Amino acid sequence: MTVLEALNRATGYLRDHGIDHSRLNGELLLARSMRLSREGLYIRLHGKIEPEEMKTFEGLIQRRVSGEPLQYILGHQEFWSIDLKVDPRVFIPRPETELLVEESLSILIKISSKKIPSVLELGTGSGAIAVSLAREVRNIFLVASDLSGDALIVARENARQAGVSDKIRFVGGDLLNPFHPGKTFDLILSNPPYISGLEIGGLAREIKDHEPAIALNGGKDGLEFYRKLMSQAPSYLKKEGWLLLEVGSNQAGSVSEMIEAGGHFQKPERIKDLSGIARVIKAQKVDSGKWRVEKK
Ligand SMILES: C[S@@+](CC[C@H](N)C(=O)[O-])C[C@H]1O[C@@H](n2cnc3c(N)ncnc32)[C@H](O)[C@@H]1O
Repeated sequence: MTVLEALNRATGYLRDHGIDHSRLNGELLLARSMRLSREGLYIRLHGKIEPEEMKTFEGLIQRRVSGEPLQYILGHQEFWSIDLKVDPRVFIPRPETELLVEESLSILIKISSKKIPSVLELGTGSGAIAVSLAREVRNIFLVASDLSGDALIVARENARQAGVSDKIRFVGGDLLNPFHPGKTFDLILSNPPYISGLEIGGLAREIKDHEPAIALNGGKDGLEFYRKLMSQAPSYLKKEGWLLLEVGSNQAGSVSEMIEAGGHFQKPERIKDLSGIARVIKAQKVDSGKWRVEKK
């Protein structure tokens, strides 16, 4: 059988089993089975596929058809133009989270003209956000935490591969609990678990059966993490420090209200993604002096 025939057959099989982008999935899995790049695969399309390569390919196709995410099978995902290792220990970084990186950078550029910014990322997962910031900002003090020790192993590996290990301190623990009261940051950011208990059952099997539940489950209404964070974050932020949070597609209103109700921040800004959905909430801590005046 030629490589092209094997690819066409697999593409049809994937499509018949409801896999989106079946041709792309087929090409990437076939390239992996033949230890080739995608370009290398095109060059070999009219040559014969070896029996060993075919066996490997069929195995990978079966894994994909059973619902395993392509990124876990291939073992990597690109984020902010960085090739990150991913496996079932970590949430697969999503393109929309790059908005959180963009907004962080707009804040950090201003701060870094005056001093070395200190940043805390809560729930770092694969380390996607922290590694991206470390790559972009020359002088930065970054702490990245996660409740999952397994995720931290992957995040450390990604930081090492990206050459930024010396810029990020990884810490295990629940939200802000591992940090000394009195320790403050210029920016705290997070893409927390925000799927409600009810919604989890309705997620695609790739997500609900394969990605870590701890990375998805935001409690009964999906807002548990934000509530906890709101009670802790203000005291860990410097005067005029920033809070940046990714939110689910219908959560911007509730999270903004939560932030306003606490009285520690100026009116939060809602930043929309390319599809017009408010994805990131950006809030600056009120200067404590001003805040006291306003409260009189
Ligand atoms: C949606 S994932 C985001 C991962 C990564 N930051 C990204 O954007 O791709 C949420 C992360 O929060 C972590 N997490 C869940 N509960 C936590 C908690 N209470 N304290 C710290 N991290 C937590 C999960 O292990 C997971 O890595």
